[in-house]
Amino acid sequence: MIPTSIYSKRSRLKLLIIGIALAIGAATVIYTNLLVAKLSEREQQLIDLYGKGLRYMINAEIDSDNLVFIQEEIIDANRSVPVIQTDEKENVIAYKNLNIPEKISEKRKKALLKREIAKMKAQHKPIVVAYQQEFKNYIFYKDSELLTQLRYYPYVQLTVIACLSVIAYYAFSYSRKAEQNRVWVGLAKETAHQLGTPLSSLMAWYEYLKSSPRFENEPIVDELGKDVRRLEIITERFSNIGSVPVLKDEPLLRVVENAIGYLRNRVSSKVAFAVESDFPPETTAKVNIPLFEWVIENICKNAVDAMEGKGSITLRLVKSNTKGAIALDIQDTGKGIPKTKQEEVFLPGYTTKKRGWGLGLALARRIIENYHQGRLYVKSSEVGKGTTFRVVLNK
Ligand SMILES: Nc1ncnc2c1ncn2[C@@H]1O[C@H](COP(=O)(O)OP(=O)(O)O)[C@@H](O)[C@H]1O
Ligand SMILES: [Mg+2]
Repeated sequence: MIPTSIYSKRSRLKLLIIGIALAIGAATVIYTNLLVAKLSEREQQLIDLYGKGLRYMINAEIDSDNLVFIQEEIIDANRSVPVIQTDEKENVIAYKNLNIPEKISEKRKKALLKREIAKMKAQHKPIVVAYQQEFKNYIFYKDSELLTQLRYYPYVQLTVIACLSVIAYYAFSYSRKAEQNRVWVGLAKETAHQLGTPLSSLMAWYEYLKSSPRFENEPIVDELGKDVRRLEIITERFSNIGSVPVLKDEPLLRVVENAIGYLRNRVSSKVAFAVESDFPPETTAKVNIPLFEWVIENICKNAVDAMEGKGSITLRLVKSNTKGAIALDIQDTGKGIPKTKQEEVFLPGYTTKKRGWGLGLALARRIIENYHQGRLYVKSSEVGKGTTFRVVLNK
């Protein structure tokens, strides 16, 4: 038995990784927001000083000694915060640190500045510089480019990281699937190959015994023949898994009936099998018989295991919601599968049985989805009442 805990461990690990990623993302955003707040405060101080400087210059005596100092150390020192100085009617007097090309028409420049003023207004209230109650200037300003970039930086970074993670995840799971495929196919081919040699010699022995007068009317020979035939079917299954299987239009009802024939004779007579169909008996679907029989056997065997020796299994051909498809519902009266496990049961290695390998449903899903381009899932299940598996095939 392979412990089922590998899957709960794996999903806990997944949760842990997602948790750590979220924590790192949140920390980045919080830290950058802190930096943004600090830088923003500093820019605010710079611009307040700028306003004070301008106010001083406008109101100062022409020959004041401080003018040069203020011009150089305060007004010119602002090399990052974009500012526009206007009169009361918002006619531009001067501007600084804006990306406005030199060689454009006055009209275009005016339009650009107007747009900038609108943007600045949206961000901050302008600073008012009054000249002795006679006239006023406005200083419009907005965040520096650095501050703006810093504001968006964590989101850009996190988006890039998220995209990379998604790509890495898909690349990884693709290569893992490809590897799994090679294992399934390789093992199946090898098994079919190894069974082939003794099987052909067994067949020859069986033919010999059948025609030998010494064993005439011996029931043992017939039994031997049945077992040889069974071995042949098993070999055929493995050889079909190991190659690209041929799908043919087959009368589905008859295929289903044949498939359960083998099990029917081997399980307790208290397990009742029933086959029903909403379609005329000759309705076909595209299947590979050895593989499809394997699927039905696996699902029905599980159904038998799920009932303690007594109950019923109903196989019903029904209409599928998918166009051009036909569905087979396999319903049992077993112990049911809890909602949280209804996908997990298809994972290789998932089993709740002492002597289970947990490969039956994984194999069945592979056969239906990869080899028949169909679907296999738990249609409904109730603990204590029973389960219905649905196989969807193409017509
Ligand atoms: N019809 C069913 N009713 C209840 N449980 C089921 C049924 N079919 C499958 N299961 C559950 O799914 C598990 C996996 O099934 P499977 O892949 O066939 O492996 P195994 O039969 O070796 O355990 C089973 O161990 C069982 O717990
Ligand atoms: Mg099984």
